[in-house]
Amino acid sequence: MEEKPLSLLIPLLSSLLFFSAISQAANVTYDRRSLIIDGRRKLLISASIHYPRSVPEMWPGLVQTAKEGGIDVIESYVFWNGHEPSPGKYHFGDRYDLVKFVKIVQQAGMYLILRIGPFVAAEWNFGGVPVWLHYVPGTVFRTNNEHFKYYMQNFTTYIVDLMKQEKFFASQGGPIILAQIENEYGDSESIYGDGGKKYAMWAAQMALSQNIGVPWIMCQQYDAPDPVINTCNSFYCDHFTPNSPNKPKFWTENWPGWFQTFGTANPHRPPQDIAFSVARFFQKSGSVQNYYMYHGGTNFGRTSGGPFITTSYDYDAPIDEYGLPRNPKWGHLKDLHRAIKLCEQALLNSEPTSLKLGLLQEADVYTDSSGACAAFISNTDDKYDHVVVFRNVSYNLPAWSVSILPDCKNVVFNTAKVGSQTSMVEMIPENLQASVISPDEGLKVLQWEVFVEKAGVWGEADFVQNGFVDHINTTKDTTDYLWYTTSLDVDENEGFLKKGSQPFLLVESKGHALHAFVNRELKATASGNGTNSTFKFQKPISLKGGKNEIALLSMTVGLQNAGPFYEWVGAGLTSVKISGFNNGTKDLSTQTWTYKIGLQGEHLSIYKPEGMNKVNWVSTSEPPKNQPLTWYKVVVETPSGNEPIGLDMIDMGKGLAWLNGEEIGRYWPRKSSRHGKCVQECNYRGKFMPDKCRTGCGKPTQRWYHVPRSWFKSSKNTLVIFEEKGGDPTKIKFSRRKTSKVCALISEDHPSFEIESWQNGTENNKNKVAAHLKCPESTRISSVNFASFGTPTGTCGSYVKGDCHDPDSTSMVERDCLNKSECTIELTEQNFNKDLCPSTTRKLAVEAVCS
Ligand code: GAL
Repeated sequence: MEEKPLSLLIPLLSSLLFFSAISQAANVTYDRRSLIIDGRRKLLISASIHYPRSVPEMWPGLVQTAKEGGIDVIESYVFWNGHEPSPGKYHFGDRYDLVKFVKIVQQAGMYLILRIGPFVAAEWNFGGVPVWLHYVPGTVFRTNNEHFKYYMQNFTTYIVDLMKQEKFFASQGGPIILAQIENEYGDSESIYGDGGKKYAMWAAQMALSQNIGVPWIMCQQYDAPDPVINTCNSFYCDHFTPNSPNKPKFWTENWPGWFQTFGTANPHRPPQDIAFSVARFFQKSGSVQNYYMYHGGTNFGRTSGGPFITTSYDYDAPIDEYGLPRNPKWGHLKDLHRAIKLCEQALLNSEPTSLKLGLLQEADVYTDSSGACAAFISNTDDKYDHVVVFRNVSYNLPAWSVSILPDCKNVVFNTAKVGSQTSMVEMIPENLQASVISPDEGLKVLQWEVFVEKAGVWGEADFVQNGFVDHINTTKDTTDYLWYTTSLDVDENEGFLKKGSQPFLLVESKGHALHAFVNRELKATASGNGTNSTFKFQKPISLKGGKNEIALLSMTVGLQNAGPFYEWVGAGLTSVKISGFNNGTKDLSTQTWTYKIGLQGEHLSIYKPEGMNKVNWVSTSEPPKNQPLTWYKVVVETPSGNEPIGLDMIDMGKGLAWLNGEEIGRYWPRKSSRHGKCVQECNYRGKFMPDKCRTGCGKPTQRWYHVPRSWFKSSKNTLVIFEEKGGDPTKIKFSRRKTSKVCALISEDHPSFEIESWQNGTENNKNKVAAHLKCPESTRISSVNFASFGTPTGTCGSYVKGDCHDPDSTSMVERDCLNKSECTIELTEQNFNKDLCPSTTRKLAVEAVCS
């Protein structure tokens, strides 16, 4: 038998041990310092991955990528409205297969935090609570209301029982180590008056009575009763203290990016600042930290919250929407996790000593009884670097950074120094390819089929009444769409019919969006902005003598998902007037309106195989452009390669899309304001806020829409689009998301992980600094576009040589990297000419192509 080196066997053995540990019942308790699992203290790095925001085929890969990134725990909410679409009717299939998801986490040898909620916020439709519950008479959400409590307890118990059945709680040998009830209720509790506190205490007791054998948590719940642990959600939680000295300091939501709404620019949180916040948390005795989100994923179908949350829930997370590691973010956090883990023993088994090293510089030192010592040294100055002296050694601390010293001597990591690779990701366009040979031309020409909705009431009206109804109370969110229609008689003597002057349509709405048709022609489109759904507009229209049809298509774009009493927030028209009559302005608001809920195509499910033939599609190889209310259907080939796929909708207006009956979701390449606050480069120093580092001002918020690979058949895929206001379907494309280039930029003085050298105190770890490059699976480095050892500047994709440059840099890097899937280039004397500009700190910059 081939002998395996011990170093290879250790991870294998430890994962076997881990497995056996979690397949037997584990005792999960806590004290003021940490969770204690079977008597062992735990320092845990956790990652939010919401199962319905990807597809089961992606789950193992996502969990594995998290594990490789140094994650110990996966965290997910439970999505009530996905699981109980109507009262007592449960759904746990496909993306909602919670049991399968937990098993995948378990099989990866990881722990799980289950945030049952069941109110979750999460930028998820209605905060996760089923819309039907709002219509159970007498129900008020999230307060001391018997109906709400009944249904909440019912669902919580259902989920707990399901988890128990599968033996998923750690107390039963499963991966679940913590469970959450409610979500950030403490922030709204007082607004609910008396009922608020009563409800919060009831929720805690109801949870405890479930006997799950592991601790419960409540986030942002300042009065969480013992033994429920209150936890922190924020961009920073170093200053957080739990509400009792017996509870440990847990951070349930560290936001490594932020969500988007249609019409706002892309938020980015720099990796240096995320790492800073995490390091500060552990420096200040935190022991469980979770990234919300680690993989954001996609709000498929109509699952996004609102108003206006985008279909993409990418979140600028360490794993991108499509499942690819986002570098350098993912890699930098991986390095951070490794550094923190080196300190675990000392951190968890001693009390810190805080040393002030300067006005905004401090060290927290942990020394355990065995003598193990770890220190975190921070500089919270958001402008200046500082040199500090700690234990007679001086350390250079970049502004807004933390250095981690697992032996209280050597810095293995500084949060501001990014050594991990940067990946450049491209969306490679691929035109839609016809699957079917066109009967006329005998060629593979895209054969479109088109069905146009009627502007106004189709089929029978749902009801007629004077004045307006609330949009959401009427659709009950079974669809985004509600037609408000009326008619108007215009006297032949009206001035505007003669003089050629124009009447104006004046509309006010609670939201979220609207298309106005006059005599079947689209005359105006309007919507709210940001998270304010209300809007009003006035637009010129033309009217004819006699009867005129006014048909207003009102739309929701995701229901409210948070805020006190959010379930009562309405939508739809509040005022409709037409100005320019001989007698002035006519108010149509109180006259008779005829209502129709949803679209005909939706009603007949023409996007699904079973409904597809229920309308008469018109075949054409030249589908109409800029035509409102149009359904397009086309059968296409599967895009080549195996990269994830985005549907490029840049030339479309607004609507819904499906592939093979699966709901891709809402599309709306709505542009963000050109005048918004966007940055060229993000300064990571200083407190992060969602608006701090946005990009893409004046560009569509969301151009590509994720279509999971698993939704494609080997051939003949049916793509169905419903376009509301007009677009050019011939420009729709698939795009393959590909990591095309990898870059590294690393300086000679970068902290090194060569722990053997620092542990023995022998070698100067400067010599061990290295750049690492890794191509995505099944690709290799095919060329080196740029390499310079010296004083290169710039960023990945645009590096330039400096005054100091080793002319052999490229051949050196090629020697180590060409045709390899992964390579390491040490910044050693053997590799580079160290006589070059000896008085400067030199760097190596590399840009390589993966193919
Ligand atoms: C928190 C909430 C999460 C999510 C987050 C923002 O307040 O608990 O569910 O909505 O904000 O992404």
